[in-house]
Amino acid sequence: MKKQIGVLTSGGDCPGLNAAIRGVVRAGQESFRMHFVGFRDGFRGLVQDRTLELTPLALSGILAHGGTILGTSRDKPHKMPIGSKVRDMTDAVVETYHRHHLDALVCIGGGGTQKNALRLKNEGLNVVTLPKTIDNDVAMTDVTFGFDTALNIVTEAIDRLHSTAISHHRIIVVEVMGHRAGWLALGAGIAGGADVILIPEIPYAVEVVAKAIRRRTRAGKTFSIVVVAEGAMSQTEAATIADLVAAKDKTRRKSEKKAASVELDQFHQAHVNHTMELTHRLEELTGLESRLTILGHLQRGGAPSAGDRVLATRLATGCAGLLSQETYGIMVAARGEGVEPVSLDEVAGRKKLVPLDHHWVQSARHVGVCLGDQL
Ligand code: F6P
Repeated sequence: MKKQIGVLTSGGDCPGLNAAIRGVVRAGQESFRMHFVGFRDGFRGLVQDRTLELTPLALSGILAHGGTILGTSRDKPHKMPIGSKVRDMTDAVVETYHRHHLDALVCIGGGGTQKNALRLKNEGLNVVTLPKTIDNDVAMTDVTFGFDTALNIVTEAIDRLHSTAISHHRIIVVEVMGHRAGWLALGAGIAGGADVILIPEIPYAVEVVAKAIRRRTRAGKTFSIVVVAEGAMSQTEAATIADLVAAKDKTRRKSEKKAASVELDQFHQAHVNHTMELTHRLEELTGLESRLTILGHLQRGGAPSAGDRVLATRLATGCAGLLSQETYGIMVAARGEGVEPVSLDEVAGRKKLVPLDHHWVQSARHVGVCLGDQL
């Protein structure tokens, strides 16, 4: 009997998703005689039973394309906006799974997808995930696909911003995605020769950043490039967050926990404009004209790099092999040169942040980059 496999992509898109869809389906069809059905727009397509037949023709020519032929969404099966209400649609997911007589469901996604997949595993479905995101913050995998492409895009942007910063003798602040992790800002900041790199894992003091820039001015360098991760925060903001999290963890009352969560969310929402405030503050403190560039969704668009095409294909073909062995309830992780199944219980709900002693952090400091905590 041919195995019947469902495939979906979920969460923010990233380059390499089509390479992964192609990899798992081609390997499954050609090496293991599997049959595939794609679900559109993440878990919403599974709830609504909207499908795309993954024929060889549908896969032709997609390897080099960004985005995802399946479409994606950030919908969660257990909390899905339906009309004006948010409903638990897990039963509908389970029904669609059985209606298609699926032997397994492949969910290609980031941290949120791993959590949703674990919930479905706990409902008795055979689930296998692949780790993608430009943030590179999925636990238990060396790397995620999408990251390498974004690293190249941000590096090229920093290269371009250098010439205008030099001509105008300005500070250019570049805001980089990454959610609560600093991998993208740190990697691209090093590759692009940034003078200051601010990441969430290392809370900064704006005075330290200003001092580093003034020191450059004294050395005759009349411009500075400051790369800031969207999740970076000052030492004061980090202390406020730590207090809110501690208050949330301490209380046993449901209502107080909820209130603390709301306060935390409000804090994070208010933090969205922090790079604009930082840019103004640096202008005040250094007397240098300052400008902000927010790279935004440019970082997720366009063709995947060669590295991401290879990584996505490696993980996806490894996935097909694991499906054929009926190894379920796992994420296919990149480990060294190969792939490795890791239990979803070990992945879901965990984030891979930049360790403070990571060699990228050390290298940045060695080449004189200010990380905002010390000169
Ligand atoms: O997870 C990828 C990511 O691009 C993050 O870096 C960013 O915080 C987020 O998605 C943006 O999400 P959206 O595309 O939903 O605005």
